[in-house]
Amino acid sequence: MGVTLADCYNTAQFRKLAKRRLPSPIFHYIDGAADDEVTYRRNTQAYEDCDLVPNVLAGVETIDLSTTVMGLPIDMPMFLSPTALQRLFHHDGERAVGRAAEAFNTLFGISSLATVSIEEVAETIRSPKIFQLYYHKDKALTWGMIDRCKAAGFDALALTVDTIVGGNRERDLWTGFTSPPKLTPSSLWSFATHPSWTLNYLLREPFELSNLKSHIAEGSNVSISVSDYFSTMLDQSMDWDVAAEIRGRGGKPFCLKGVMSGADAKKAVEIGADAIMVSNHGGRQLDGSRAPFDQLTEIVDAVGSDIDVICDGGIQRGTHVLKALSIGAKACSGGRWYLYALAGAGSDGVKRALTNMHSELVRDMKLMGLRSVGELSRQNLRFR
Ligand SMILES: Cc1cc2nc3c(=O)[nH]c(=O)nc-3n(C[C@H](O)[C@H](O)[C@H](O)COP(=O)(O)O)c2cc1C
Repeated sequence: MGVTLADCYNTAQFRKLAKRRLPSPIFHYIDGAADDEVTYRRNTQAYEDCDLVPNVLAGVETIDLSTTVMGLPIDMPMFLSPTALQRLFHHDGERAVGRAAEAFNTLFGISSLATVSIEEVAETIRSPKIFQLYYHKDKALTWGMIDRCKAAGFDALALTVDTIVGGNRERDLWTGFTSPPKLTPSSLWSFATHPSWTLNYLLREPFELSNLKSHIAEGSNVSISVSDYFSTMLDQSMDWDVAAEIRGRGGKPFCLKGVMSGADAKKAVEIGADAIMVSNHGGRQLDGSRAPFDQLTEIVDAVGSDIDVICDGGIQRGTHVLKALSIGAKACSGGRWYLYALAGAGSDGVKRALTNMHSELVRDMKLMGLRSVGELSRQNLRFR
């Protein structure tokens, strides 16, 4: 019988549900990472190298989880990072994720490789939204996406800086994953044994990369591996001047996604960025690089309160969020924790993942003897 939505109390159970629902090339695209996946595993393990130190008798009937990121007030300090291709994971894709984020008034991001348009998301989702930009060689496309975000009223722009080439995601090589997926002799069995996913994919709205389709000569429904897409379409000459130019053009709160060194964090402040996402892209790019949580102290110490620091990746529990906030992050974010839920049960799944995270955060704050997340500090954390 296997796990059902009602059984999903944590990310590990959502992962099992997603694995059951998805053909294997799609599941492994979400679940996999680069090379030997060492960085991917470390992203979560890093949280186990320190412990919370609670206080008691603090009168904790009400808990305030709200925070402000890039000037945008949100009701909980954990949000949904931008991720590509969401209608491949569930036919409602970004629509489902956006509705869930709106219900909890937390940030969510859509990718340049989203499967729903900038305009539709802006029109239908009222809570704060980030657009994630990949710097494409095609400048009409790059500047066009920024202008569309401005016109549609997106709240912030995040430039991804850790994907100058595609990471070596070997699970995708093994499964032959492409976007959109294509039937290969080895994947045929997997699609045939997941008829509900396959029928939804074949019979519902056709797959497209809504924000790119008019700029890709062959159309966005010609199968290509994600790694080939990055290597052929993205502009590897991107540098700090380009980042500053994008910031100027966007005119909205601006964030660099994928900063991992204190030196780069300082440069982000110099170009006027409002936030950095300390992130290694969920271990999907440079395997053997440090985990965001391991780098957080160094980065927070480098920039102080000059910029909002967001800790992205590896987060599966409310206590992980409390640890990152204790070091000085303004908020945390993640991808797979809500993507497994999306794949498993659409909007209801993502709402359940958010409900789980919200109740863990409230319970953990009470057990810590703290009333608002602003009270978290390094005083309540010890490294082993
Ligand atoms: C399936 C998948 C697709 C992703 N697509 C994008 C993307 O298009 N743009 C981007 O900047 N990051 C992308 N990311 C990275 C996420 O934004 C985030 O940094 C990462 O998932 C954090 O790690 P976690 O999954 O352990 O939480 C993707 C991640 C996953 C798992």
